[in-house]
Amino acid sequence: MSKLSVRDLDIKGKRVLVRVDFNVPQDAALNVTDDTRIKEALVTIKYVIENGGKAILISHLGRPDGKVVEKMRMAPVAKKLQELLSKPVLTANDCIGEEVKKIVESMKDGDVLLLENVRFHAEEEENDPAFSKQLAELCDVYVNDAFGTAHRAHASTEGVAKFVKQAAAGFLIEKEIKFLGMILENPARPILAIIGGAKISSKIDLLNNLINKVNNLIVGGGMAYTFMKAQGKGIGKSLLEADKVEIAKEILNKAKSRGVNIYLPMDHIVASRKDNAQDIECVNEIPENMIAFDIGPKSITEFQKVVKESKTIFWNGPLGLFEVNAFAAGTIAIAKAIANSGNVSVVGGGDSVSAIKKAGVTDKMTHISTGGGASLEFIEGKELPGIAALTNK
Ligand code: 3PG
Repeated sequence: MSKLSVRDLDIKGKRVLVRVDFNVPQDAALNVTDDTRIKEALVTIKYVIENGGKAILISHLGRPDGKVVEKMRMAPVAKKLQELLSKPVLTANDCIGEEVKKIVESMKDGDVLLLENVRFHAEEEENDPAFSKQLAELCDVYVNDAFGTAHRAHASTEGVAKFVKQAAAGFLIEKEIKFLGMILENPARPILAIIGGAKISSKIDLLNNLINKVNNLIVGGGMAYTFMKAQGKGIGKSLLEADKVEIAKEILNKAKSRGVNIYLPMDHIVASRKDNAQDIECVNEIPENMIAFDIGPKSITEFQKVVKESKTIFWNGPLGLFEVNAFAAGTIAIAKAIANSGNVSVVGGGDSVSAIKKAGVTDKMTHISTGGGASLEFIEGKELPGIAALTNK
């Protein structure tokens, strides 16, 4: 990386403001239900405190829209962090102001403080310079380790970097860039991208960038049916983005001219409704009145073969409506095939991560990104403001 790393900083006795992404799922009682993002930030937090720094952590949680929302307070996250760190974590009622300054002044080397939800201030998402400056005043050095929020140009991810002497990347950001970067630069070939999910509209930039990089492309999930429509195939009542058929055609043509092998489902699990278990069937041609909800066994076999033959695999988006057990087989089979292939596998956030969990193969993937939108934008080839703002080496 061309950016300063937390390793390059002199941390001893310093106040280190660390932007983390602790935007984690919670249940109705506000217990953290998935602590992956907290666990992934521990490397940087421990590095700071073990090297004699004071770790001042800042994050957002949810979308409180610039006001205090009681159920979006950081307290449950602080509790989880405390458990994982096996040491007390100080908390504050705000992320700026006199009270916070006092707490920071009282911190000893090796202490950890988790500030209150930064999005309780509208100035965070507005990337307000005065607010950024107030955040910067809390620290001697700044570290961004919030990969999941690196695509947002907010005060605590981008603005603050302008007001500190040194702004460095944490270990999680470094790890994410290393593995996601492998997809875009010099991957072991052949390289395969498996892109699924409901809609093409959210993946057009992704597909357009990937067809310049990959040898094989599997398209599955709801979006596959707009592609099939573009090929003139019958899709029954399956999900269609009629205004994206032309774009799908263009992507198919571009891929062809670049020599990319494109794989679309060749058989389908269909039903008249997603909650109708009575008329589920497996078909090669989708009947007029039916909706395709998953790929069929022939497609699974073909996709498994491509997975096996590809040395590097990038996966984003499920291949069917995997939340419904009757339509989960395709996604689960491909998750397992990726896991067991022994090939380099990089999974980009969101639903694909839930699918991997459902398949029980989380530990077998080379890298699972902690960023949904951020990993998508990175693979689209866009610059992430939270990383671009860091100090050059
Ligand atoms: C995420 O969960 O994708 C990140 O924390 C960013 O959250 P946001 O989409 O609310 O900016």
